[in-house]
Amino acid sequence: MRARSWLVRERWGLVFVYHAHLAEDRAKPPLYELPALEEISSGRYAFRGRHEFGDLRMHLLEFPENGPDSAHFNPLHSKMTIPWTQVRMPFVDIDHQARWDTDPHEAHVAHFDNHATLKIFGKLVPRSSATARMTFIGPGGLGVLRIQLPQVGEVLILETHTPTAPLTVRVGLRWFAERSVPRLLVSYVVGNWVSQLTADLRIWERKSYNPRPMVVENDGPVHKLRQWDRQFYEPRPAE
Ligand SMILES: [Fe+2]
Repeated sequence: MRARSWLVRERWGLVFVYHAHLAEDRAKPPLYELPALEEISSGRYAFRGRHEFGDLRMHLLEFPENGPDSAHFNPLHSKMTIPWTQVRMPFVDIDHQARWDTDPHEAHVAHFDNHATLKIFGKLVPRSSATARMTFIGPGGLGVLRIQLPQVGEVLILETHTPTAPLTVRVGLRWFAERSVPRLLVSYVVGNWVSQLTADLRIWERKSYNPRPMVVENDGPVHKLRQWDRQFYEPRPAE
């Protein structure tokens, strides 16, 4: 009997399976490896929780496509909500200074950087600012989000998007933090991310893939993202 074997990696309490779409690629090594994230494997960052969004009707690429789409930030992400909910907090807005780019050294990596600051009654509150970097490892299966809280420490969220069927993706979060970050603050930070991501997910479930989007100047580097996407797909997504 010949059983098919799968290349797996066990990391950070998760099991990753390498799925090569084409049969002739299955004997080849994968296009890329997972990052080391020694702060988790060494135990320096402590596991602090997990959250499952379940199976969603979306394409895997919606996740990395969110970063360069700077036009959606103000309408979707500029209102502060009560963490873990979609309930808006009156008079509190979030100012985002965001950018997306490919990694200069590793072709399969891209980064989304955001500097977020609260605005209360329209006035920026500099002490509330936090810097976040989402690193995309490959076409959206794994995102490593690091949120820096000045003078407190870092919260690290692993966001996994696992395709389970055509146009079906299982989305989950696992988060870790430096032990200097109080658990309540970790929950507040992750809850904010869940609120913002939930707003995105509602749209991703209703979007359709446009292979040739009309992009105007302020829409962000959408075409650069599409070029980056293509390295993972052979043949290319339908054009
Ligand atoms: Fe978004």
